[in-house]
Amino acid sequence: MIKEKLISVKEDALEQIKSVANKDDLSQLKVKYLGKKGEITAVLKTLGSVAPEERAEIGKLANLAKEELEKAFENKLQELNDSIFDQIKESEWIDVTAPAQKAKLGKLHPVTQIQYEIEEIFKSMGFSIFEGRELEDDYHNFEALNIPKDHPARDMQDTFWLFGDKLLRTHTSSVQVRAMEKTKPPFQGISPGRVFRYEGIDASHQNTFYQVEGLMVGKDISVANLIYAMKTLLKKIFKKDVKVRLRPGFFPFVEPGFELDINCLICGGKGCSVCKQTGWLELLPCGLVHPNVLKLQGIDTEEYSGFAFGLGLDRIVMMRYGIDDIRHLLSADLRFLEQF
Ligand code: DAH
Repeated sequence: MIKEKLISVKEDALEQIKSVANKDDLSQLKVKYLGKKGEITAVLKTLGSVAPEERAEIGKLANLAKEELEKAFENKLQELNDSIFDQIKESEWIDVTAPAQKAKLGKLHPVTQIQYEIEEIFKSMGFSIFEGRELEDDYHNFEALNIPKDHPARDMQDTFWLFGDKLLRTHTSSVQVRAMEKTKPPFQGISPGRVFRYEGIDASHQNTFYQVEGLMVGKDISVANLIYAMKTLLKKIFKKDVKVRLRPGFFPFVEPGFELDINCLICGGKGCSVCKQTGWLELLPCGLVHPNVLKLQGIDTEEYSGFAFGLGLDRIVMMRYGIDDIRHLLSADLRFLEQF
């Protein structure tokens, strides 16, 4: 009886060991069979009731069963350990020979790219780069540019006024004044930068945009010099001869003043939202520096004259790449920016 019991307990144990899936279950099972209160131990405790002549045989059998089970537990433990390692090998596998991932490089904003290009073009013509400031005062932004207080020309530019006489510059022309304060003629330079206007936003207007101011003061500077510089610039920027037209334009700090327009490169002159259906794009207001502006900075107008221009940098970028809405430029949308 006890012999059969021993064998069936052992067989049960071996069967269960086979199907164990983790180490916790395995050690519980080991306690269940081989522990102090385990089933094999329980069988051995009944040995006292066995006839003395059978006792030795059964005792031996019991020890063998115990050894067999211990061996089985040990093997299973080894098996489970191996499979854990296999899993780790699978999940943490890395190919050390694979090429490293490339770092993602950023790029300059299209406006900055073209700004740098324009700087190079003018540097090659002997122009320097003037530093300006975005926070300006009434004097440099208006007064010294022949736009006195209460002059209707102030209405041409809706201004973000700050405290006192401070304002966000409405144009880069204020740099003309700062350049003349610092430098004696002859000199020539450009100044690219951000400008601000308090105005409604649409496909061709932003409250924050970019201009490049240019100023050349010297002996015998005339409209011919101005036109030559502008044509050189446009030809290099657009890499072809661009159709231009010159119209009279009023700006208090130049006399005569002009509007230099270029044929709209978006629609080819047919008319679109960017050129307000005219086929032309107002690109480059310019002129000969007004004598009042020169005189105020102590420049002798008998000896010196100058030309100035104010280029809409955003417009140049839009024309160059066929962008039909200025709002893209400040959007910081990578889907847009990654194209340049
Ligand atoms: N500052 C003017 C504006 O933003 C543009 C301008 C016109 C600049 C004529 C000039 C110039 O230098 O000569 O509307």
